[in-house]
Amino acid sequence: MSTATATITDQGLDSREFRLDPYPAYARLRAEGPLVRSETDRTYYVTTHRAVGAVLRHKDASVESPFRASRVLFGRTVMDVEGTEHARLRSLTGRSFAAPAVPGHLEELVPGAVHGVIDALAGRGRADFVADFANEVPIRVMSRIIGVRAEDVAAFQSCTDAVIAYFDSATPERRRSAVTAWAGMRALLHRRLDELRPAPDGSVIGQLLAATAEGAEVGDDEIVRQIGLLIPAAIDTSNRLLANVLHILCSRPELLRQAYAEPALLDGIVEETLRFEPPIHSTVRIWAGGELLGTDVPRGSLLTVLLGSANRDPEVFTDPDVFDPRRAANPHLSFGAGRHQCMGRRMALAEVTTALRILLERCPGLRFAESRPDPVEGFSFRSPATLVLQYGSPA
Ligand code: HEM
Repeated sequence: MSTATATITDQGLDSREFRLDPYPAYARLRAEGPLVRSETDRTYYVTTHRAVGAVLRHKDASVESPFRASRVLFGRTVMDVEGTEHARLRSLTGRSFAAPAVPGHLEELVPGAVHGVIDALAGRGRADFVADFANEVPIRVMSRIIGVRAEDVAAFQSCTDAVIAYFDSATPERRRSAVTAWAGMRALLHRRLDELRPAPDGSVIGQLLAATAEGAEVGDDEIVRQIGLLIPAAIDTSNRLLANVLHILCSRPELLRQAYAEPALLDGIVEETLRFEPPIHSTVRIWAGGELLGTDVPRGSLLTVLLGSANRDPEVFTDPDVFDPRRAANPHLSFGAGRHQCMGRRMALAEVTTALRILLERCPGLRFAESRPDPVEGFSFRSPATLVLQYGSPA
């Protein structure tokens, strides 16, 4: 067994240069090895596709950490616990978080929400597609899926903004705003539970109430916590993916032209965006101690699992730095792997692909409105801050 070495990351990764373009640093890290110690960042970076898959599946790599932002804000959710508690919460929430369980989700709900968002763009010719499209669609869709009343969607939206700002940068001020916003939303969700309890519907709240009525061991507080988790897990991921796809398309006019002409290409474009420019670049685990990937790693060490690096591993992807929506196989790890892998993959893909298909059907001539558009940027979560586009009149 060898001892981990600290070499490349002596300056740490959280620099402006890295936030703008992490891929050269990922390549250097992979060349160092599958597990690279950084004294500056006080973590072990997990770098290659094989190593990322192995760590996410490893029984001794745990999500349990009292410092994780989701744990701080919501308490114990499916994403933050292990063992029998995780298995119980995963089986409880699994059905209600998956697309096919929501009646009419694909057929009516998503198109209805997307058309509403595009109607609001009509007559303007220019808009910020982060604020006015990418953020709007998942909030409208998820509030309906969760079971939030129409009159409470605005409150849900402002709570979502505060929570997302905190997850983006955990300053004390943002933490206070998120805690206050979540306290208000929690009260609102408790009232909704009481309303739906006599006759649970097909919403997430309705399905979780029905499970309780059928004998599942879950209290109201626990239900509300799992719903809170959907704000960062379902909304602040789908919105960034939508923004990244649009950024990639507008940066490649020929590809955008093909997407207009051949909407079936959108499935490949979305999957390839997930590989090439994923919304979530890393997740973390706490190591139980002992040998990991040939290195003796102390108990309690932080492992930073670089999904974005795994997706550019040349051992797995031919020409990994080329955006190719027609790849025959695309085993990217942007939805994670192992026991904590994403529960909303199908829902996210359906939502994002449908939103883009309708946008291209209705909005001709999409293009950057500014000569220097905001770049895709970030460390753990990456997407553009704004995306100001011009377009023809929506049909
Ligand atoms: C593009 C959109 C999405 C991306 C990129 C994404 C990505 C991920 C990733 C990487 C994880 C694993 C985190 C880890 O291992 O630490 C995860 C977990 C999770 N995701 Fe997603 N997600 C997306 C959309 C959604 C949606 C729409 C939902 C719900 C409707 C959802 C629900 C969840 C839940 C509940 C977990 C935790 C599962 C567990 O810990 O057992 N996600 N997601």
